[in-house]
Amino acid sequence: MLSAARIEAMIHFWNQIQALMLSYRHAFHAGNPADVFKHAVLVALVRAMQEKPRGIQFVDTHAAAALYELNDAETLKNREFDAGIGRVWSSPPLHPIMDDYLALVRHFNPDGRLACYPGSPMLLRQLLRPNDRLILCELHPAEQRRLQTRFAEDGQVRVIAGDGYAALKKVLPPQGGRGLVLIDPSWELKSEADSLTAALQQALQRFAHGVYAIWYPLIEGRDIDLTVLPEKLGLNQDQWLDMRISFPPEQRLGRMRACGMAIINCPYRLRQTLAEWHSTLS
Ligand SMILES: C[S@@+](CC[C@H](N)C(=O)[O-])C[C@H]1O[C@@H](n2cnc3c(N)ncnc32)[C@H](O)[C@@H]1O
Repeated sequence: MLSAARIEAMIHFWNQIQALMLSYRHAFHAGNPADVFKHAVLVALVRAMQEKPRGIQFVDTHAAAALYELNDAETLKNREFDAGIGRVWSSPPLHPIMDDYLALVRHFNPDGRLACYPGSPMLLRQLLRPNDRLILCELHPAEQRRLQTRFAEDGQVRVIAGDGYAALKKVLPPQGGRGLVLIDPSWELKSEADSLTAALQQALQRFAHGVYAIWYPLIEGRDIDLTVLPEKLGLNQDQWLDMRISFPPEQRLGRMRACGMAIINCPYRLRQTLAEWHSTLS
């Protein structure tokens, strides 16, 4: 019989192998149009949930590196941020959802010059109230080290070095009964949609009224189709919101022509605000 410690060690080893097989590094994409859309929705979700005082557990299953300098080799390689945060950085006031998100990004660039871009871990950290908690999961060893270094002294943040889907079994349901799970995979593996579906099935069994936000790309010739998810997960229409944004040619990222955010159990009032904002987007 294998001991629990040995099984844990084998899982860790398998995770490390898997991570090394993945070539995706978010630094090449930080601040691109997809990030802007995803992070604006994320901030709006957090704000809506925080209208109630009870503490919330936030889980970022695919966290990546937290904060990105926009003058380093990886971010400068394709300058994807030019078409994303760069395009809206100096905008006059937009919709309140965008203005709130932009104010947060500006917090990380206090001298007014766009020098760095906060990823989802940093945005979530910035939004935590004293009674909220944040769990960050990441499979890639280099990104894990970055997260561990950045949040080593932070009592409200826990970094899990491993598979974000597997981690959900350990961290759901949250203590206190309120939680948001952001699932933002790199969609490199053909099996990603199956892993996502299986993880959500289990997560919803543990935490049926949790809020789940899932980002997905629409790539020419390889669209991710999440329209089957509500049926597979047994969700009714009120529990499912799927928002998409299309990118005009000058904002296209390779073959990605659009992306979406699917939200399970979106706070009721936010649905309307998101719909109103969505109608203002190109
Ligand atoms: C799209 S990036 C995340 C970006 C980040 N959420 C943000 O918005 O700033 C996806 C990350 O997930 C990591 N990853 C891939 N598969 C994973 C898994 N099964 N569990 C945890 N992390 C994973 C990748 O190494 C990559 O850093």
